[in-house]
Amino acid sequence: MSTSNENNFGVSSILERGTVNRTSVELLTLKDRVAVVTGGQGGLGLEMALAYAQAGAAVYCIDLAAQPNEHFKHVQKEKAGQSLKGRLEYVSCDVTKQDNIWTTVGQIADKEGRLDICVASAGVLKGADVLEYSAADFQKVMDVNVNGALFAAQAAGRAMVKHNARGSIILLADMAGNIANKGMHTTAFNASKAAVIQMARSIASELGSKGIRCNALSPGYVYTEMTKEFLRDNPSLEKEWRSQNPLNRIAKAQELQGIALFLASDASSFCTGSNMLVDGGDTAW
Ligand SMILES: NC(=O)c1ccc[n+]([C@@H]2O[C@H](COP(=O)([O-])OP(=O)(O)OC[C@H]3O[C@@H](n4cnc5c(N)ncnc54)[C@H](O)[C@@H]3O)[C@@H](O)[C@H]2O)c1
Repeated sequence: MSTSNENNFGVSSILERGTVNRTSVELLTLKDRVAVVTGGQGGLGLEMALAYAQAGAAVYCIDLAAQPNEHFKHVQKEKAGQSLKGRLEYVSCDVTKQDNIWTTVGQIADKEGRLDICVASAGVLKGADVLEYSAADFQKVMDVNVNGALFAAQAAGRAMVKHNARGSIILLADMAGNIANKGMHTTAFNASKAAVIQMARSIASELGSKGIRCNALSPGYVYTEMTKEFLRDNPSLEKEWRSQNPLNRIAKAQELQGIALFLASDASSFCTGSNMLVDGGDTAW
């Protein structure tokens, strides 16, 4: 939680006190903060977790596998550059099991004595023609993308209230929750992400009085395992996706670090209920 000392920044601080306690860049520090990131073993989840650990936080990556894979362990050690000012931990949990994720996040917060940040990044993408979509596949997408986001946000919100934290909850949506991606047969995914955007607004509205913020983050196409499958099955898609945004390219996962750090940190202290589009301009035209 911010102390009054930490609030001494900006022009008014210089005018009233002659100096500042924090510069604008220092607003982004996450020193001593504690974060949970669902879907944190890889993809955007691990990318954001790394950003937080580099900014000084203890970050608990929550994912399905009983043990983290070698890819995760390699990032966790990060010996060469020594860029981790905080640390990365791994915890196994399925976000679709409400009791389990509440307990898991609650235990992390109790052990650390606080919880400041929650990113709900666990997600699945199943494409199918809308007239053929099976009930089971539709339910699976909703279970992970919608229920899982809610259960993680609930777990974090409960822990933030218990530990009296002015926390930040970030729900991974997608530009597909804002528009229907051209040429993609992904009705369930698109509907799930629209639900997440509205969920973020609703959570922000309910928890604002407790000092807890909640925002949706809507990336465009990003190179991760999720998109790799589509691109492998349909190589011409890459050119098509690139042509759909003014920057004429697909994002690298690390390009989401900056916005994730902004939303988690004191730099975004007045930002809640927002839906941040980071889509290379895909939805601009
Ligand atoms: N890659 C993109 O282009 C893109 C664009 C916009 C939004 N997103 C969203 O960002 C989020 C992360 O996507 P990504 O590209 O990193 O995907 P990814 O497939 O690389 O990572 C998703 C992670 O979620 C985990 N996961 C799945 N089900 C889970 C469950 N029930 N419990 C716990 N963990 C579970 C997976 O094991 C995986 O590690 C998703 O919500 C996705 O919809 C991705």
